[in-house]
Amino acid sequence: MASRQRDISVSEFFAKNRHLLGFDNPRKALLTTVKEAVDNSLDACEEGGILPEIVVVIEDLAEAVEAQRHKGARGKEDEAESKGKKKAAASSRYRVTVVDNGPGIVRKQVENIFGRLLYGSKFHRLKMSRGQQGIGISAAGMYGLITTGKPMAIQTRPDARKPAHHIELAMNTKTNRAEVTVDVESDDFPLARLRDLNGATRELAEGGEFLGPASFPTGTSVSIELEGKYQRGRGSVDEFLELTAIANPHARITLVRPGKQYAEDAEGGSSEERGGRQLGLKAAPVPAIAPGEASEGAAGQGAAVAAEPERTEDVGPLVIFPRATSELPPETKEIQPHPKGIELGILLQMMKEAQVERDSYTVYNFLQDKFSRVSASTASELCDELGDKAFKVTARTKLADLDPAHGERLFKLLQEVKLPPPPTDCLAPIGVQQLLKGMFKGVRAEFYAASSREPDIYRGRPFLIEAAIAFGGELPGDEPARVIRFANRVPLLYQQAACSSFKAVLETNWRNYDLQQPRGTAPVGALVIMIHMASVWVPFTSESKEAIADYDEIRKEMKLALMECGRKLGTYLRKRAKMKREGQRRDVFERYIGEIAKALNAINGVDPKKIYDALLIQARERTAIADAQLDDEGRQVKDEDPADQQGVLIVGEALNEALAQAEGTAPASEPVTKSRKAAGAGSAVAKSAAPAPASAQAAKPRAKLDLKTGKLVPLDQGKLF
Ligand SMILES: Nc1ncnc2c1ncn2[C@@H]1O[C@H](COP(=O)(O)OP(=O)(O)OP(=O)(O)O)[C@@H](O)[C@H]1O
Ligand SMILES: [Mg+2]
Repeated sequence: MASRQRDISVSEFFAKNRHLLGFDNPRKALLTTVKEAVDNSLDACEEGGILPEIVVVIEDLAEAVEAQRHKGARGKEDEAESKGKKKAAASSRYRVTVVDNGPGIVRKQVENIFGRLLYGSKFHRLKMSRGQQGIGISAAGMYGLITTGKPMAIQTRPDARKPAHHIELAMNTKTNRAEVTVDVESDDFPLARLRDLNGATRELAEGGEFLGPASFPTGTSVSIELEGKYQRGRGSVDEFLELTAIANPHARITLVRPGKQYAEDAEGGSSEERGGRQLGLKAAPVPAIAPGEASEGAAGQGAAVAAEPERTEDVGPLVIFPRATSELPPETKEIQPHPKGIELGILLQMMKEAQVERDSYTVYNFLQDKFSRVSASTASELCDELGDKAFKVTARTKLADLDPAHGERLFKLLQEVKLPPPPTDCLAPIGVQQLLKGMFKGVRAEFYAASSREPDIYRGRPFLIEAAIAFGGELPGDEPARVIRFANRVPLLYQQAACSSFKAVLETNWRNYDLQQPRGTAPVGALVIMIHMASVWVPFTSESKEAIADYDEIRKEMKLALMECGRKLGTYLRKRAKMKREGQRRDVFERYIGEIAKALNAINGVDPKKIYDALLIQARERTAIADAQLDDEGRQVKDEDPADQQGVLIVGEALNEALAQAEGTAPASEPVTKSRKAAGAGSAVAKSAAPAPASAQAAKPRAKLDLKTGKLVPLDQGKLF
């Protein structure tokens, strides 16, 4: 036995347990690889104060080999070839390349970052970022190496005046260290090869919109070959990037899909249809809002927005998720742990580390330097209380002079002392306006509401919950609501049932807001629910960062955010129902008014038109008054809470019609058409993207409802945001 005992390296452990890191099957492996690289790129750009420009390229290597073979031996072995293709569709070899315009990586860190698990800059700090564990990108490289035997290729340029480093490396899982196979300097950054992948990339590159060296003065490009499977739909790379674009409106992201497969759909139907049906996402560009409409409104609220709110452009071989705002999220501050959230073992460890750092570290300085919210006066108070008659503790007492019992006593004192809550400038919420914009960009509905809560604390760590809902429009009305979850702006696509946010959705009583909700399930209806948790440390249930652990404090905040959105929806639904009733009553009145006018004319010869008009005015007043004051059962309708009217956006044809009916006017027969800014007239992108589907035309937002006045504001004059 004893002779068999051995060290286990962290990479050996995770190579065996790769499902813990999100590499359970080929499809998920492809997603996880893209996710880890994109998360890192967004983090790096934001830390460097750079507006992110990210390109994701997925190449199907099996298909490339097939094409080569086909060229050499055309006509021969047709049968064998088609067999090969079938196999390729199940699981195949891909090369994923993610390029960013971030600050780049200094040469000496490259081996550690990409060739070593549990190495990173984010683990030891308390700051909101997408990455936190120091596992992500090296794990993706390790998975690639295990499944294909190919090393990772990295190009990084940390200095715009110098050439990029080109490094190829493979992880030695026994030692958890990188083995470098290529290490050269090169000016080929971003890789010219990628601009020449297909017609669409060439077109875009010619227009300077795709991987132009000028847009990437510094940055990093990571290429990983791996065994994977590209298939659209739920849990796919496409969905991940769509959702990432919603939560990160400041990023411009381009996805180049692999070879021919983008056009195929494993479950039948066009991929566009499927994406649209499942998520309610807009798959094609829709001319929606005239230039300047959204930008001015948003600028009034302090946000800088592109002149024209652009929508996702999907042209098949590539998808562009445009930048919706040119303002970076506010920079977050790193904080020290809050004493209330600390555990005894951690405190003792921190005391030891401080002594190693400086032999002369005093208790007083330790309390102030290593914790947040401990003021000078609180620190001296704590010192006083820590001492006793036998051993006095002053501001000059060193940590080294304390004995272990003092550690325990200090822990107790820290739990008892009154302290302000942790600072919250370490968090960067998405914000109500951006949430609405993000949802509007990605989900086609008629009603949108968002709420952003005040920060709270779990285990001494600050966190903040935001929620948004989209209702109606083209969303399917007979399915359970779709829940989209985010942690620190990263979409979570798996393990929904284990996630605190999903539990919060189930525990919220949606029936209060006029929605159906079978017992123990999500509400059923045309609804998309979005929840975002922002925190300096998101408590994930596993290393693959797929679900948020179920802390009571977190779930409670999530429920409160959902309830806020639910109330806004309830207000809207009631208002909509009232409008409908008003319209119906008026119909009944109007039906009889004509008869009455005729009868009166027969009796005393008065002008029927005059009577008709007078009665019509009366009827309109009556219906308006009755509806404004009484509900279905004739009871007084409660005044609406003004808070329910904020963070709300209502658009869509359904509403136009309801209002037109209520106002007794027919809806404008011709929808207002607005031309989309052409993406370079005559380009492949513009050509294939131009015709918007008929359904998209129908749902074109033409107006929004002002909940305060109950009036419809046409989008030509009113502002969307
Ligand atoms: N594209 C990039 N540009 C600049 N720095 C990067 C880039 N990718 C990774 N890094 C650096 O490499 C470190 C390790 O990345 P890795 O993805 O392995 O871990 P992480 O992001 O810290 O945590 P997680 O495991 O949660 O993703 C990061 O902390 C970051 O400092
Ligand atoms: Mg990472």
